[in-house]
Amino acid sequence: MISLRQVSRWYAGAVSDRSRVLDQLDLELKKGEFLYVIGGTGAGKTTLLRLLATEEHPSSGSLSLFGYDLSGVSASTLQTIRRSISTISQKVQLIPDLSVFENISLAVHAAGNRSWNRDSRDRIFELLEKVQLLSKRDRPASELSGGEAQRVSVVQAIARKPELILADEPTGAQDPESAWNVLDLLMKENLTGTTVMVATHDREMVRKVRKKTAFLRNGRMQIHAEESPCRF
Ligand SMILES: Nc1ncnc2c1ncn2[C@@H]1O[C@H](COP(=O)(O)OP(=O)(O)OP(=O)(O)O)[C@@H](O)[C@H]1O
Ligand SMILES: [Mg+2]
Repeated sequence: MISLRQVSRWYAGAVSDRSRVLDQLDLELKKGEFLYVIGGTGAGKTTLLRLLATEEHPSSGSLSLFGYDLSGVSASTLQTIRRSISTISQKVQLIPDLSVFENISLAVHAAGNRSWNRDSRDRIFELLEKVQLLSKRDRPASELSGGEAQRVSVVQAIARKPELILADEPTGAQDPESAWNVLDLLMKENLTGTTVMVATHDREMVRKVRKKTAFLRNGRMQIHAEESPCRF
């Protein structure tokens, strides 16, 4: 489902190989896998997720998603690929004047899910309940705390029923209990066959809930299997 071959990313003004944010990365991820992406601040976690979200492009190397090499896809295929991906951004962006529920239903419609029915609404309510936000469903997003807004963006991502979830620090603004609720939701979604990547600084989470892990450092990536957890 995800294939990176010798993917590098550098920015204008970079003078040497050492300034590559990502340096010749190889990664294969199958449908239904769960992967943590860890590494210090500035290690390139967000950059990697943005490449996979097709929000940026590799400076060199090749990247395939759902079997399509992104360097050669048509605009309509790219649109289909994007609709199959949900991103949870490190910088949460909700529409402040719309309610929590409206922000989520808009995200679902934007994913091309035209079969909007009572089940969709119930599913959103169920997800909101799990992140303790059901009582705020009709409140404008502008009233939410940072952590609450982040949980709404997690619900948006899951409610779209994507094939791939790219979550960038989805628990960064949560207290420990809420962080577990968020991780639990992502893991349950993963159990239904959705591929999930979670960039995180949360050492406790990575230690307690062992998963395959990609560790980024100095532009390079080391993969640790679930059975041989990465200590960082
Ligand atoms: N548009 C850009 N132009 C120039 N440099 C950039 C750009 N985007 C990212 N970088 C650089 O790439 C490096 C990796 O950034 P990235 O945001 O991917 O790190 P990160 O691992 O997500 O960090 P954090 O844990 O702080 O979120 C940083 O040194 C950053 O300054
Ligand atoms: Mg980041």
